[in-house]
Amino acid sequence: MNPETVTALPTEALDPVPRDAVIAIDGPAGSGKSTTARNLAERFGLIYIDTGAMYRALTLAAIRKGVDLGDGRALADLLLPARLELGSVRGETTVHWNGQDFSGPIRSPEVDAAVSLVSSHEDVRTEMVRRQQEFGRRGGVVMEGRDIGSVVFPLASTKIFLSAGLEARVQRRVRQYRQAGREVQESQVRSDLAERDRKDTQREVSPLAISPDSLVVDSSSMSLAQQNDACARACRINPTLDSRLDRDLEAARRDLPWHYRLAYAVFGAFSRFYGLKQIGNEGCALPRGCIVAVNHISFWDPPLVGSTLHRYRVHSLAKEELFRIWPMGPLFRSIDSIPIRRKGYDHKAFSQAASALQAGNNLVIFPEGTRRAIGSPGPVRNGLGILVQATRAPLQPIFIRGSYGRAPGGSVKSPLEVSFGPVVWWHGLDALLENHDPKDVSRRIARLCEAIFYELQDRSYARHPRTLFEKELGDKQLQAFTKRHKKVFGTG
Ligand code: DC
Repeated sequence: MNPETVTALPTEALDPVPRDAVIAIDGPAGSGKSTTARNLAERFGLIYIDTGAMYRALTLAAIRKGVDLGDGRALADLLLPARLELGSVRGETTVHWNGQDFSGPIRSPEVDAAVSLVSSHEDVRTEMVRRQQEFGRRGGVVMEGRDIGSVVFPLASTKIFLSAGLEARVQRRVRQYRQAGREVQESQVRSDLAERDRKDTQREVSPLAISPDSLVVDSSSMSLAQQNDACARACRINPTLDSRLDRDLEAARRDLPWHYRLAYAVFGAFSRFYGLKQIGNEGCALPRGCIVAVNHISFWDPPLVGSTLHRYRVHSLAKEELFRIWPMGPLFRSIDSIPIRRKGYDHKAFSQAASALQAGNNLVIFPEGTRRAIGSPGPVRNGLGILVQATRAPLQPIFIRGSYGRAPGGSVKSPLEVSFGPVVWWHGLDALLENHDPKDVSRRIARLCEAIFYELQDRSYARHPRTLFEKELGDKQLQAFTKRHKKVFGTG
């Protein structure tokens, strides 16, 4: 969705923002994220969290202690035991490091210049992301940063990428500094911002980029009030109540051919026998023409997941080897399965799948391409991103757990669950494609899908902690499955 569409949305027709919303705002330095995030938090009664301030606090602590800023391990050692507290006084973020007030000094030019380097280390980011997830665990937050929508909260209720051209950002920063009584050279501010853009977008770990499902708001020519209003409107688009969801479920069921009914009757009996629990999307509603992406751990995943899609005719991609076994071939074809060759890129299978989506059909895929170790979903292959770019089809992520530990009526080894995540719409895809090649975009879509699988897995573990059986089997599988993955695809 482009900014004009966001601005044109009528406020009164939109859903209110829930108290447990997680609003993620990402964007480059100087794009006005902090001001807008603070404004949204105030409007909707949520807590504002400035994640940049966390990286800044670590930078300042490291400078004061004389820690080498290029040494990620040493920085992580400094961070791990530290008490890092964020607060707010009269709308301004306060930061305390081990009880010391860092709020003022973290905005110094010295920290400005060093923070990009500090935030580029994987060890540092892992711990920061963990703390940020902890802050937002119960929802009710507006969090701003660079990787909030893509890494920290891949299932945030709203994702906004706030951008602005370099020149607009330079003018805003200069004005800000002068208002604070600091004399600055415009040319210096310009080169500092350009340098931070370069470092933030080119670092290896979580580089700054539009998450393909973010709403992009380009504020270059907006006043502050317009920018805040556009973002507030974006927050009121409730993804789970999206009007594009297919609500005519009865009609969809009436149109089902007899062999689908038969297949669903068998799948349904099978999943009832094993006590399958469905989490989320109790009405089993899917938007038209959507990609249903499921993690894959067992041969039993297709019928178990299939039983939750029982209202629809769904196409699917399945490995071509299966079609060679009689009577699987004709059976699979009768329920719209498309055979796919898993090595390399199977052009024919993907174009058949894309046509099915474009005709408004739903398509089930296992985007990891083969079974993976339980507890460690991914990596997702690039086929998903290629399909998304070809069709713009929304994504229904599904996480399956326990298809290994089946026992009639449920198993103590592992709960048998199929969890639906919220539908992902690719609002930011076109804007992302302006600056990134399609291969890179496919990789980003794959990373986002993996992050969503992990998030759904974490939520499942929060309901039922990981069992010993799952842990031991997962650890054992990890090596064996990596070897098999290499054999099937030629890569780890
Ligand atoms: O938003 P800010 O200027 O205060 O951020 C300071 C630096 O921290 C910025 O150069 C990028 C980094 N940062 C990050 O890498 N990830 C975040 N979530 C927030 C900030």
